[in-house]
Amino acid sequence: MIVLGIESSCDETGIALVDTEAGLLSHALHSQIAMHQEYGGVVPELASRDHVRRALPLLEEALERAQLDKSQIDAIAYTQGPGLAGALLVGASVACGLGLALRKPMIGIHHLEGHLLSPLLASNPPEFPFLALLVSGGHTQLMRVDGVGRYQLLGETLDDAAGEAFDKSAKLLGLDYPGGPAISRLATLGDPQIHQFPRPMLHSKDFNFSFSGLKTAVLTAVKKYPHDLSEQDKANVARGFVDAIIDVLLAKCLSALKHTGLKRLVIAGGVGANTQLRTALNSAALKRRFQVYYPELEFCTDNGAMIAFAGALRLKANPQLATYQYSFNVKPRWPLDELGAA
Ligand code: KG4
Ligand code: ZN
Repeated sequence: MIVLGIESSCDETGIALVDTEAGLLSHALHSQIAMHQEYGGVVPELASRDHVRRALPLLEEALERAQLDKSQIDAIAYTQGPGLAGALLVGASVACGLGLALRKPMIGIHHLEGHLLSPLLASNPPEFPFLALLVSGGHTQLMRVDGVGRYQLLGETLDDAAGEAFDKSAKLLGLDYPGGPAISRLATLGDPQIHQFPRPMLHSKDFNFSFSGLKTAVLTAVKKYPHDLSEQDKANVARGFVDAIIDVLLAKCLSALKHTGLKRLVIAGGVGANTQLRTALNSAALKRRFQVYYPELEFCTDNGAMIAFAGALRLKANPQLATYQYSFNVKPRWPLDELGAA
């Protein structure tokens, strides 16, 4: 069965084609980062309008790469939530319009389930069950994953998400949106001894996180400089920030692995692309004898492949999930644990 995937929850338009037997056939992506950069963050209305412009050309691109015709699509998966309402509506209406025109069924996909299952697209995929750390721009969650749709939330952030902390701290250092990759690069040039930032909730004995205090600590450190920050000063602040956030993410993963007895850890979401996080987890995995899995770098941040793939896994497990009802409602807020098993 060939499943078309449509992602439009935030600032990436992603289209992909997945075969339930052969896996990913092709994908096409447009990132709006350059468009939002001058505003220092995502402007929802601009995001929606750009999804409208990009969706169909990207569909043509994905079809051409897979050497397929629209008529060969068997089902359409689209991101139903969570995300920006207007942006989600674009993907949902494109899915609905295509479904109606082609007389093919549709399935709404939870964006975080897409991220969560994206490491299964890699060449050496993990088996269930596993512990998942989901670290994106909007979410930071630790979850036990027993199968498709079988997710148990162990802990989550009480305030800012990890990606948000990266972006906000980067902004304080004058770096462009999204600041995650930039602050992480800058940190490699910094001296780890200059700034010791707090490690929020490191010893809280649960699996929750809190990052807004860390961002405030960065702000206080920046303000304390009696002069404009030199490039080296900025690198030192970046280093202090990255060391603190990675320490917390690592410690929570290790204690959740111990608590659950799981031996496989999966990292998903944009922050999963972070080099320092990967280095810290890889060395802990060697020492403590667990396996750590990441999505391919191109599938860490938002993309259509993970949506098509989640749709394919769900439909393979339960074809009844596909609907020929061409009306839709998007879910800008949608807790992952409200999602049923496949
Ligand atoms: O998963 P994603 O593409 O979108 C959401 O669903 O939120 O994640 C985007 C987030 C942004 O906050 C971005 O700064 C962060 O992931 N990010 C990184 C890196 N690459 C992306 N953060 C730290 N280091 C990176 N290399
Ligand atoms: Zn995402």
